[in-house]
Amino acid sequence: MPLRPDLIDILRDENAPIVILTGAGISKESGLHTFRDPDGIWARYDISEVATPEAFVSNPDLVHHFYNDRRAGLHDPDVQPNAAHLALARLEGEWPGDVLLVTQNIDDLHGRAGSKNLIHMHGELLKIRCIHCDLLTDWPGDLAKETPCPSCGKPGGLRPHVVWFGEMPLEMERIYAALGDCGLFISIGTSGNVYPAAGFVQVAHEEAGAETVELNLEPSSGATLFDHSRYGPATELVPTFVSALLGD
Ligand code: APR
Repeated sequence: MPLRPDLIDILRDENAPIVILTGAGISKESGLHTFRDPDGIWARYDISEVATPEAFVSNPDLVHHFYNDRRAGLHDPDVQPNAAHLALARLEGEWPGDVLLVTQNIDDLHGRAGSKNLIHMHGELLKIRCIHCDLLTDWPGDLAKETPCPSCGKPGGLRPHVVWFGEMPLEMERIYAALGDCGLFISIGTSGNVYPAAGFVQVAHEEAGAETVELNLEPSSGATLFDHSRYGPATELVPTFVSALLGD
């Protein structure tokens, strides 16, 4: 069921805070792969070999190769923010209340589209950090096992600034505070398989009494938890939904 126009009017009149969660589906039409679709990343790679702290210890070359490939993909001139990323940046600029965008994506497309109030809860592909010192820095190119840290000089400690399976997602306190206070929660392009993000809809519903909306290509694993839903490609659904919210 879509969100009724009278509910939208109420949310707008109340300056209701909005929290948006995005996943790989929003970047699919920009040319980036999702994870769990038939042509997804986890159909070609084993999570335990490339996306865990244990994998980084046992086979750092393979882990670096995996992320170097994906980092290079972000520099492909064809990979650009799409209409869905741009619509969310517009919503942040024009909605009368706070809009917090929480993404599970490690690409930089929301930032390039102009979103500012943005949390990368699973980290950022174009940043690295050092496990020996407090270095956290932009890193557009390849990374190798032997690259010495530009800050402390030690080799072997540089890693992608991404959250691996078994690690704690970033900025959870700020995310839960916003979820507990929002009037509208929108989930876009995520399969709802990975926690804690998959549980955000229940927090928004139970703690804030928020209206909850799913915009996805198909019903996600948590589809029945949402009050409202629309199914189709993000580049069509998201601009239309944002236009309805803004009363175009
Ligand atoms: N428009 C909207 N949704 C789409 C589109 C599209 N064009 N294409 C695919 N989708 C949907 C799929 O139907 C699927 O439900 O996007 C979802 C993508 O799901 P996943 O591949 O599981 O990606 P995501 O939910 O972001 O994964 C969560 O898992 O592996 C980890 O850390 C990784 O952040 C990632 C997390």
